Amino acid sequence: MTESLTVRDNRTGVEYDIPITDGTIRAADLGKIKAADPATQEDGPGLAVYDPGFVNTASCRSSVTYIDGDKGVLEYRGYPIEQLAEKSSFLEVSYLLVHGELPTKEQYDAWVHEITYHTFVHENIKEFMEGFRYDAHPMGMLMASVGAMSTFYPDAANISDPENRRLQIIRLIAKMPTLGAWAFRHAQGKPYVYPDNDLSYTGNFLSMLFKMSESKYAPDERIEKALDTLFILHADHEQNASANAVRSVGSTQVDPYSSVSAGVGALFGPLHGGANEAVLRMLRRIGKVENIPAFIAGVKDGNERLMGFGHRVYKNYDPRAKIIKQQALNVFEVTGTNPLLEIAMELEKIALEDEYFVSRKLYPNVDFYSGLIYEALEFPPEMFTVLFAIGRTPGWLSQWLELVQDKEQKIARPKQIYTGERGLDFVPRDVRWA
Ligand SMILES: CC(C)(COP(=O)(O)OP(=O)(O)OC[C@H]1O[C@@H](n2cnc3c(N)ncnc32)[C@H](O)[C@@H]1OP(=O)(O)O)[C@@H](O)C(=O)NCCC(=O)NCCS
Repeated sequence: MTESLTVRDNRTGVEYDIPITDGTIRAADLGKIKAADPATQEDGPGLAVYDPGFVNTASCRSSVTYIDGDKGVLEYRGYPIEQLAEKSSFLEVSYLLVHGELPTKEQYDAWVHEITYHTFVHENIKEFMEGFRYDAHPMGMLMASVGAMSTFYPDAANISDPENRRLQIIRLIAKMPTLGAWAFRHAQGKPYVYPDNDLSYTGNFLSMLFKMSESKYAPDERIEKALDTLFILHADHEQNASANAVRSVGSTQVDPYSSVSAGVGALFGPLHGGANEAVLRMLRRIGKVENIPAFIAGVKDGNERLMGFGHRVYKNYDPRAKIIKQQALNVFEVTGTNPLLEIAMELEKIALEDEYFVSRKLYPNVDFYSGLIYEALEFPPEMFTVLFAIGRTPGWLSQWLELVQDKEQKIARPKQIYTGERGLDFVPRDVRWA
C-alpha cells in the first residue's frame, strides 16, 4: 500500500503526491499547492488548513499519554490508568510521566525525598498571597502565585540545561499543594499552615488544608488514598486545552512557571475544569429520586443536559469514571453518605439503559462523581479546579519537557483567514470629525 495522498488542484489541474506518516499529512506539504490569483496572476499563498479548536490537527509528537476514546482506553507512558490508580501512587505516576519510565527503589526514594523537601515556599510568596482580597477565587490566586514563582527562581529561564529543568519540575510538583492549600485557607480567613514533611504528599496537602490547633494533623488513610487516586486520574490527558496552553506559551522558550500558570488559566474556564460543579448543581436541582424521570424527559426534549455525561473524546465509559465511583463509596464510608449520591447512582442506572443515551454513546465522564467526593470532603466548588490543577501539574510539565526537547517544535503561531478591509486611507481626526 502506498502511504501517500494524491491531490488534484482543480484550479490548475496540477496533481500533488503528499506523503502520509502516522496517519497524518504535513500541513507544510499542503503549503506547496499554489495557484495564481485570478485578479493579479501572481502566485497565491500555499493551501492552508482551517481548523478552529484544532479538532483534527496534530500539533506535536508525544509519548506521554495514549487515549482511545472509542474503546475507553487511557494510558500514561503505556500503563493503563486502572492499574496505576489501583497499584501506584501519585508521586510514582508523576515520576513515570516526567521520566518516561517507572522508578527503581533508589530513584523513587530520592524523588519522594526531593519533592517532600521542596514543599516550602519563600515567605514573600505567603505575604504576596495574603494581599489578595478576602473573596479572591482560589484559581486566580493559584495562577498568579505560580506565575510569580518565576521571579523567585530567575534561574528557571535557563531551560536548555537539563539539571535546571529537573529542579524546576521538582519545585513545581512540590509547591503546587502549598499554594493551592493557602488559597483555600485565605478564602476562609484562616492562618496558612506550613508543610509537614513527615506526611505523604497527599497527607501533607490535607494537613495544610484542614489543620487547626492540633500539634500534628493525622489524615484519614481512606481520604488520603481517595485524593491521591483523584490526582492520578487527573495527571495527564494528552493535548487538552490546558496542556496546549502550556505548550503554546512554552514554545516561546519562557520559563516553566510562566508556562504552567498559562495552563492554570486555561483550566479555570468552565468548559475545561468546571463541569463537576455543574453536576452538583444539577443533582441539587433534581432534589430527590422521584424527580429523575421528569428530568430525563427534559433532557430528551433537548431542554436540559445531563451534566457529567458525554465527552468529546470518550464515546464509551470514561475509564476514570469507574475508578472515581469506587473512591466515592470509600470516602462516604468516612464522611457519611451524601444524599446526592443516591440520585447520581439512580440517574446513571437509568441513563445507561435508556435508548437516547445508549444510541448517542453518552456515558458518565470523570466529572460525574468527582464533585460528590470533593463536596463530601467539604471543599467549596471554587476549590474543585484547584485540586484538578495540582493533579495535572506533572502532566503539564511532562508535555513542557517534551516540547523543549523536540527539535521539530517551533514557536506556536497559527495562520488566519483574514476577513477585514485592505488598503484604506487614514483620515485624521480633525478631518473626520469636522
Ligand atoms: C462533553 C460534551 C461537551 C461533548 O460534546 P460533543 O462531543 O460535542 O458531543 P455533541 O454535543 O456533538 O453531542 C452528540 C449528541 O449527544 C447529545 N448530548 C451530548 N452530551 C449530552 C448530555 N450531557 N446530555 C444530553 N445530551 C447530550 C447532543 O445533544 C447530541 O444529540 P443530537 O445528535 O440529537 O443533536 C457534551 O457531552 C456535554 O456537554 N456534556 C455535559 C458536560 C460535561 O459533563 N462536561 C465534562 C466533560 S469532561
